[in-house]
Amino acid sequence: MSQRLTLSRAAHIVGVSRGALQRKMREGELPSHDGMVSTVDLLRAYPDFDLEDSGAFERVVRVKEEAFGRRVMERVLPSSQILAQRLFAQSQELGELRHHLQGYHQLVLALRERIAQISAERPALQVEMAALGEALERGLAAVLGSSEPSDNIAVMDDMLKVITAHVTVRPSGREFLVEGHDTLLRAGLSSGLALNYGCGNGNCGLCKARVVTGEVRRVQHCDYVLSEAERLQGYVLLCAHSPVTDVVLEALEAQGPEDIPEQRIVARVKSVAPINAAATDTLLLHVQTPRSNRLRFLAGQSLTLALAGDGRDCQAIYTVASCPCDDRNLHFHVARPDHPGEDVFAEMLFAGGLKSGQEIMLWGPWGDFTLAAGSSRPIVFAACDTGFSPVNSLIEHALAVDAVESLSLYWLATRSDGHYRANQCRAWAEALDHFHYFPLTAPDAATGGLSTARAICAGVLASGKLGEHDVYLSGPEAFVAAAAAELAAAGMPEAQLFLKVI
Ligand code: FES
Repeated sequence: MSQRLTLSRAAHIVGVSRGALQRKMREGELPSHDGMVSTVDLLRAYPDFDLEDSGAFERVVRVKEEAFGRRVMERVLPSSQILAQRLFAQSQELGELRHHLQGYHQLVLALRERIAQISAERPALQVEMAALGEALERGLAAVLGSSEPSDNIAVMDDMLKVITAHVTVRPSGREFLVEGHDTLLRAGLSSGLALNYGCGNGNCGLCKARVVTGEVRRVQHCDYVLSEAERLQGYVLLCAHSPVTDVVLEALEAQGPEDIPEQRIVARVKSVAPINAAATDTLLLHVQTPRSNRLRFLAGQSLTLALAGDGRDCQAIYTVASCPCDDRNLHFHVARPDHPGEDVFAEMLFAGGLKSGQEIMLWGPWGDFTLAAGSSRPIVFAACDTGFSPVNSLIEHALAVDAVESLSLYWLATRSDGHYRANQCRAWAEALDHFHYFPLTAPDAATGGLSTARAICAGVLASGKLGEHDVYLSGPEAFVAAAAAELAAAGMPEAQLFLKVI
């Protein structure tokens, strides 16, 4: 008998993206019922699936092998109380199945007896009864002797249910898995959801959400007190609770930049250093927010940075290069300015004016260069030089959301620092079947914008229509203008073209 799996779990087990499964569903290769797929249909859609090649299998093996390593146990597995509750739930399910099985067994025995009885009492029916008896025995032998591979998928799903819990968020229908000690909020953010929250620390109450079905457990201290009425309705703080069972939540999610409030945070510089040994004209600025005052933003957005206290003379707006899933550690890629006075904040950074541990004021976030809400179209990113900064954040976010069937990155370099994160881009391309990386060079941004747009058209036209993609352009004005004009002339719909001038 085939078992039903949620899309997230099915993708997890087979080792493909949710976007890839959704494409198979759209193309009729993978039937679904209420957003669930059966193990049999999954195996039909992925006939070459090998359990031992899937990440899920490796994870279970790793947990098994390292089960005595205390630190690994703490990182990978949920708390012992949650594990005990999940095992209890599995045991209950197993007990019910055993009970049903015993019932079926009794039924088969009674049926055999009845066939033999009719055969003896009514000789005229002997032939039919013998055929019926044989069919029954054959059917039983087939079921008992079956070693269908789909059984393995069901076993893996049961195992994953102990290690992870599945969460569905209403009304968006978004899904994510919670592993180890993660809270609902941390796991949701890591999966690319823009859940409503504030302090991340149990103080503000902004992350409250209603548990519709399932069971959760508090795993973090919280000072915020829910009212009696809220508790009775099933409200919990996402930043303080972890799921015990699979859970359905009603929670607020940002639909776009307009739903993210402006914030002011005094943070600290963690480090300022060349982004790699060969790229001394590009700095990586790493800023860390206080544990109790994290920064909520969407991938692709910018922040104003200023020296704390006396910031008005020395401030700048930079795009965040890191993923919103890590709201404490913010990364910025800062280019050495070409001309004095062009960017005084960057000049101060290159002159060593900002030291590790120093306070820095952040406010924002700003901008709408964010992933189009609800779009599952293939995405093309095109960046020029440090225009890669917001694109890096968008790619990390898109990979976390895992709902897009293909991502392509065209990165044009016109500076001596070139593709300063080439290793990371190549690693994405090697590790992910649906990620494609095309490094390009040009003598200047305008020429490069034109050649990049032509490369996109040539690449995209080989795999589908331009209008079936979302295209994000980021870089100097000359690059963005040239590329956008060329793409528009090639038929790219304006609504699917997203622009960011750095
Ligand atoms: S985010 Fe502030 S209480 Fe949860």
